[in-house]
Amino acid sequence: MKAVLCKTFGPPDALVVEDIPVPRPGKGEMRIRVGACALNFFDTLIIANRYQYKPDLPFSPGAELAGTVSEVGEGVEGYAVGDRVAAYAGWGAAREEVVVPAGRVVPLPDGLDFEAAAGLLVTYGTTYHALKDRAAMQAGETLAVLGASGGVGIAAVELGKVMGARVIACASSPEKLDFCRRHGADALIDYSRESLKDRLKDLTDGRGVDVIYDPVGGDYCDPALRATAWKGRYLVIGFAAGDIPKVPLNLALLKGMCICGVFWGHFVDVEPEIARANHAQILAWAAEGRIAAPVDRSFPLDRAVEALKVIARREARGKIVLIP
Ligand SMILES: NC(=O)c1ccc[n+]([C@@H]2O[C@H](COP(=O)([O-])OP(=O)(O)OC[C@H]3O[C@@H](n4cnc5c(N)ncnc54)[C@H](OP(=O)(O)O)[C@@H]3O)[C@@H](O)[C@H]2O)c1
Repeated sequence: MKAVLCKTFGPPDALVVEDIPVPRPGKGEMRIRVGACALNFFDTLIIANRYQYKPDLPFSPGAELAGTVSEVGEGVEGYAVGDRVAAYAGWGAAREEVVVPAGRVVPLPDGLDFEAAAGLLVTYGTTYHALKDRAAMQAGETLAVLGASGGVGIAAVELGKVMGARVIACASSPEKLDFCRRHGADALIDYSRESLKDRLKDLTDGRGVDVIYDPVGGDYCDPALRATAWKGRYLVIGFAAGDIPKVPLNLALLKGMCICGVFWGHFVDVEPEIARANHAQILAWAAEGRIAAPVDRSFPLDRAVEALKVIARREARGKIVLIP
């Protein structure tokens, strides 16, 4: 079978596509014929050995997928060959067949195709966990999303609306903001031209924002933190800008606010039942058309380098997907 392989750590150009043997599932695992594999920003980090997960070489990138069960390992119940499923693999899904622990697999509702479903678990799973389990966001609260047109960002815009929040999308260009508006954002801030802190305050009549969703970090963290409301929650999602901000803790004191770390990959392992329920809810919302889960572009496996470069160049509007 064909697999995209990282054989030496480096940029996307170092990836190769090779034929390798079809893997067999062990106890508690299942093999899935990959219908679609979604890429994420962290795939650009994991292939460069700059991510918190450091797989042994060679490995395939690709954390999430949708496809058809092709073999069920010993001890796995509730699944049969031919079932349509989505799964979180961590890495390894950019190939024709992948083996995944059964606990990381969730059934796919009818009416949701593989391309749309492949990218729902990491971005929407992270975001739903962040908004519901970490921030306990309530309907009627204000949610500001940084990097709002990216993978996790657009998931926050859409899930924020489904959960009843007023959503302020923040991004670096009019085109990106227009994309956010089309996905439901109520208000827009171009933080490459406008003062993030002043605009967040203006848009909340000086009160500040209840929940900040930050997958970007860098220079946006400080002004966003200063624009939170009393009892606000600041969700630390990631550092796409590269720098890990250092925050003045007196702001947390003065605002009676919480700075909430979000680590979805670990949450899935330590709280698997809540994670599975979250994922089932997300897939149901997608099947009902309540979240659009936009796919920007799809590529065949042998154009995986090009696909990852779209993400590395900061051009992705929603998901970048590989179709084996
Ligand atoms: N905590 C968790 O469990 C978890 C789970 C999934 C992902 N993440 C993290 O979330 C972050 C975003 O992931 P994603 O898949 O949404 O990425 P993405 O689709 O590439 O979006 C990232 C956004 O960040 C902004 N950005 C600002 N500076 C950037 C830079 N130098 N390079 C690239 N983007 C930059 C861009 O928006 P603007 O141009 O509008 O600023 C871009 O749209 C990553 O750090 C990832 O590791 C964390």
